[in-house]
Amino acid sequence: PTLPAEHPLVDGRTASSALVTTYRGQRGDVTPVWFMRQAGRSLPEYRELRVGTQMLDACLDPELSSEITLQPVRRHGVDAGIFFSDIVIPLKLAGVDVDIVPGRGPVLGKPVRTAADVAALPALDPSALAPVAAGVARTVAQLGTTPLIGFAGAPFTLAAYLVEGGPSKDHLMARTLMHADPDAWAGLLDWAATVTGQFLRAQVLAGASAAQLFDSWVGSLSLADYTAHVQRHSAKALSAVADLGVPTVHFGVGSGEVLSAMRDIGADVMGVDWRIPLAEASRRLGGGVPLQGNVDPALLAAPWPVLERHVLDVLESGKAAPAHVLNLGHGVPPETDPDVLTRIVELVHSR
Ligand code: CP3
Repeated sequence: PTLPAEHPLVDGRTASSALVTTYRGQRGDVTPVWFMRQAGRSLPEYRELRVGTQMLDACLDPELSSEITLQPVRRHGVDAGIFFSDIVIPLKLAGVDVDIVPGRGPVLGKPVRTAADVAALPALDPSALAPVAAGVARTVAQLGTTPLIGFAGAPFTLAAYLVEGGPSKDHLMARTLMHADPDAWAGLLDWAATVTGQFLRAQVLAGASAAQLFDSWVGSLSLADYTAHVQRHSAKALSAVADLGVPTVHFGVGSGEVLSAMRDIGADVMGVDWRIPLAEASRRLGGGVPLQGNVDPALLAAPWPVLERHVLDVLESGKAAPAHVLNLGHGVPPETDPDVLTRIVELVHSR
């Protein structure tokens, strides 16, 4: 199986873009830049468009999801769009009772805590992904030569929400289940890998030129637990797009301890949070892996000279890797002044 002939990566629109070539390991004249959570509450035009629509309903409305995806591309001149959706969309489309509570995050109607709960998890009918594919298709038709990044949550991060029933700090219940009932745990992560892989593949087939797997909460795991209970499931999720030939990115928060093990699932590019310099991340990865990151989101609210110095330091540190896409070390905080993001794009493109 290959991408359709009219896919932007195949028909010549995005294959030579700064983002795609950098993801493929070539260092070009400019460092590409985009921001995790660039679409969303930092933009007044987003807040305006979202009035009266629930988060997950917005994700499943192709017109809204494409318009929200395009907003930061138009405003900031970033080198990529990231499809406006959420990591829990494939759970929702499979029929899991999940919602996003504003200011809190994903909340489950009934947490998944036992082997019986795992066995009862519903399959995801591929036809349910139609609104996702339609939103992606609509978006890439308007993006022209700017690539769209598709994304999905990694099985551990999804399991953390499913077991805890909502956001949590240390993911204690999830990590307990991992050891108390390793078979149920493996079943849960296998299910999560399947549905999140379906979600990712649908976005790529519909026109995304790259794919990013978010394991946001991986930082709560030891390396031993990661390799024994998580890694193969993340590999399975990413393998859903392996035959399609799009560059893949893997990102986690607090991932310093597991960075190399995360790379081993087969991602082309590693996203790095703000806790370790890119040069150190590159060293831990053996020096051959393109990197994405890692401006500290906290500094977006600092005076410009402080932030500017930091961005220049990140660019310098990124030279240790074969190629570098500038991004944040995690998502844009909702309070961020959007003009600051535009200024970062201008600075990075001017170097
Ligand atoms: O611009 C983009 O990055 C694309 C959109 C995007 C969203 N969620 C939109 C969203 C992406 C890539 C995600 C992924 C996501 N969702 C992750 C992985 C990335 C990360 O930040 O670590 C995670 C852990 C989630 C789960 C989730 N969904 C959280 C923690 C929240 C925030 C809750 C809150 O209100 O603070 C959400 C909701 C969500 N997803 C919003 C957006 C724009 C906020 C919804 C709103 O506007 O009220």
